[in-house]
Amino acid sequence: MNSTTWNGKVALVTGASRGIGKAIADKLAALGVSVALVARHEDDLILVRDEIVRCGGTGEVFACHMGNVDAINTMVEHVINHFGDIDIIVNNAATNPSHGNLTEVSWPAWDKTFDVNLKGYLAVIQAVYRQWQEHGKDCSSKSIINMASIAGLEGMPQEGVYAMTKAAIISMTKTLAAELGSKGIRVNAIAPGWVDTSFSRAVIQNSRQVDAIVKKTPLGRVGIPQDISGAAIFLASDESAYVTGSVLTVDGGWTAA
Ligand SMILES: NC(=O)c1ccc[n+]([C@@H]2O[C@H](COP(=O)([O-])OP(=O)(O)OC[C@H]3O[C@@H](n4cnc5c(N)ncnc54)[C@H](OP(=O)(O)O)[C@@H]3O)[C@@H](O)[C@H]2O)c1
Repeated sequence: MNSTTWNGKVALVTGASRGIGKAIADKLAALGVSVALVARHEDDLILVRDEIVRCGGTGEVFACHMGNVDAINTMVEHVINHFGDIDIIVNNAATNPSHGNLTEVSWPAWDKTFDVNLKGYLAVIQAVYRQWQEHGKDCSSKSIINMASIAGLEGMPQEGVYAMTKAAIISMTKTLAAELGSKGIRVNAIAPGWVDTSFSRAVIQNSRQVDAIVKKTPLGRVGIPQDISGAAIFLASDESAYVTGSVLTVDGGWTAA
């Protein structure tokens, strides 16, 4: 990764207060990137920011609900006012309030899942892109990373609405890559498999379910957030300068088995 100039770059990371988003924020900050930390709960973000600063990095807290487009527009303006620009977008926050068969899905749960997981991602991209256009920014090394999931690559009984948002993120990523490539903006997705975070904890802490996951996973373990942050660093870096519209699956081989 030594050909990438990280110092002076700014990353906006949503869902940065824990799990995969925190691991990505920590790794970017350790490389010298200034990180805008986004999630709903400010107190959790402050802890992440303080840890980054203690380690010699730069981070700032921007509490925002990813299901609210007006709030997202305001948040992006605040980030630009604070840091001057955004070079790397990591759309990572997600929700999954709906469990059960698709034939019984409640529409409020559908709306919430699509608002946060899909509309929120595009709203961040639109708001940042507007700023790039308005300020005539050189976009030749801008990188957008959308957190999808292996759930978007397969059918996922009982979690169908969540899975549909993840499939749509992959579609959105490919379309944006095609639309923005001529400006030098790269857009890629990461599709994690099972990763030990609070998001998946109900499954991971169920010994019968985790045994079945480990058994089906060729690399023989559940992922950790740092498995995913390495992929994000690659996609943010110049090492992936010719990669756009791709979906990097990081699942220990789950989808290959
Ligand atoms: N863990 C897995 O097994 C797994 C597998 C495949 C894909 N993924 C994907 O990886 C990403 C990160 O998941 P994770 O496992 O790291 O989850 P996590 O540990 O539960 O973290 C979720 C993050 O998103 C934030 N968030 C949730 N709802 C939000 C909202 N409405 N507005 C703003 N921020 C919100 C949370 O902070 P607040 O609560 O403070 O808002 C938190 O920072 C998600 O896109 C998920 O779909 C995870």
